[in-house]
Amino acid sequence: MSTQEQGSPKTGASTKPAPATGKLGVMVVGLGAVATTLIAGVEAIRRGLAKPIGSLTQMGTIRLGKRTDNNSPLIKDFVPLADLNDLVFTGWDIFEDNVYESAAHAKVLDKEILDQLKPYLETMKPLPAVFDQYYVKRLHGTHVKKGKNKRDLADQVRADIQAFKKTVDRVVMIWCGSTEIFLEPTAVHQSLEAFEKGLETNDVGIAPSQIYAYAALTEGVPFANGAPNLTVDVPALIELSKKNSAPICGKDFKTGQTFMKTVLAPAFKARLLGVSGWYSTNILGNRDGEVLDDPESFKTKEESKLGSLEYIFQPELYPDLYKDIFHKVRINYYPPRGDNKEGWDNIDIFGWLGYPMQIKVDFLCRDSILAAPIALDLVLFLDLAKRTPELKSIGIQEWLSFYLKSPQTREGLYPEHDLFIQSMKLKNTLRHIMGADLITHLGLEYYD
Ligand SMILES: NC(=O)c1ccc[n+]([C@@H]2O[C@H](COP(=O)([O-])OP(=O)(O)OC[C@H]3O[C@@H](n4cnc5c(N)ncnc54)[C@H](O)[C@@H]3O)[C@@H](O)[C@H]2O)c1
Repeated sequence: MSTQEQGSPKTGASTKPAPATGKLGVMVVGLGAVATTLIAGVEAIRRGLAKPIGSLTQMGTIRLGKRTDNNSPLIKDFVPLADLNDLVFTGWDIFEDNVYESAAHAKVLDKEILDQLKPYLETMKPLPAVFDQYYVKRLHGTHVKKGKNKRDLADQVRADIQAFKKTVDRVVMIWCGSTEIFLEPTAVHQSLEAFEKGLETNDVGIAPSQIYAYAALTEGVPFANGAPNLTVDVPALIELSKKNSAPICGKDFKTGQTFMKTVLAPAFKARLLGVSGWYSTNILGNRDGEVLDDPESFKTKEESKLGSLEYIFQPELYPDLYKDIFHKVRINYYPPRGDNKEGWDNIDIFGWLGYPMQIKVDFLCRDSILAAPIALDLVLFLDLAKRTPELKSIGIQEWLSFYLKSPQTREGLYPEHDLFIQSMKLKNTLRHIMGADLITHLGLEYYD
């Protein structure tokens, strides 16, 4: 049998992932809108009250073999993922509200569904957080840890992880906390040794998100980052991730506007349509919107949102089409809309002989409804990576770029933003670790 469409390299990873036996503990940093929508959502799905819409791990299929084989199992039946019934949640927040109170405050889910889940949700009370207002100007935390230095705070988070580990079989940590101010890597981030020294000396370059990440990775716990904060995108924490076989991935959930961008931009490029301008603006009224109203937090988000087009369009290869794109992103805090964001895009494109055209996108989305399944998939796939011999010690899991506005890559590699390439990469990684043939979509063998 010719296997051209399935891809010539029969990859045959030597060892498959270990089974997902026992309980998977999920430690969530920041029990706000996204986190409570995730936790309440998983419980609603477990009880059969709703479906896991938007989650590739729960509803996605994966084609195996030729198109004529008709073999497309569910992803969760193909790779050994933790079952939703085996997830146990806990987390930290700077406010004392339990998960029910916080979900009610976030107003993402209806009161009707929250009340059905109330006895479960109100048992979850946040652990005191590592917080410093210097890094998130708009919040005033009251439920916070005290420590003599950043090392002491990291040790307290490690103690929280160690205590939780006693109650579950494996642990994953995910940052669903607020967006911190824009930080660039400094000397303290260049090696693990420098970072650990910086914890002792309270180096200002070490943000709270990095203290959690350091604690997780030190404990061998995979870490995902739903916000655009620098966090693990520094040599010191990549080193720690590899050393302790604690997988990491990129940052900032790719939910609304950037999701649309990484769908539309590859289409323009595939058809060689030029782009002269892309103006994106948003109104958002939740706490995330309030935090992003601060210019220093907005700068972090802006950098994350701006990156994708440059990489997708490759202006150095296509100067006639994409050399001088005017790209602007705005986020405006507008309380009446709550979590229901509205994102507008005006795209100025040009076609044959340079004739201009316009496209307008108006996406009335629900931020946390889009983010929760991404958070779930990242948790389940990072846990899978940790159980997969070939993946667990490589540090960055680039195959998870599919979910993130800012994919993380090894130094010297440009990030892949195109959603469809990301999707193919993710599925081929799953085929690869299970020893199945890769799929290249060549398909000439059908016409032999
Ligand atoms: N919702 C989306 O579509 C989406 C998409 C991409 C990224 N994000 C990012 O995800 C994060 C969460 O979004 P959200 O809408 O849930 O925001 P939110 O404001 O509702 O929740 C964030 C929570 O984090 C807590 N927090 C802040 N600093 C903390 C710390 N140091 N330790 C523990 N808790 C801390 C806050 O008190 C708050 O409860 C934000 O950074 C946001 O930018 C969200």
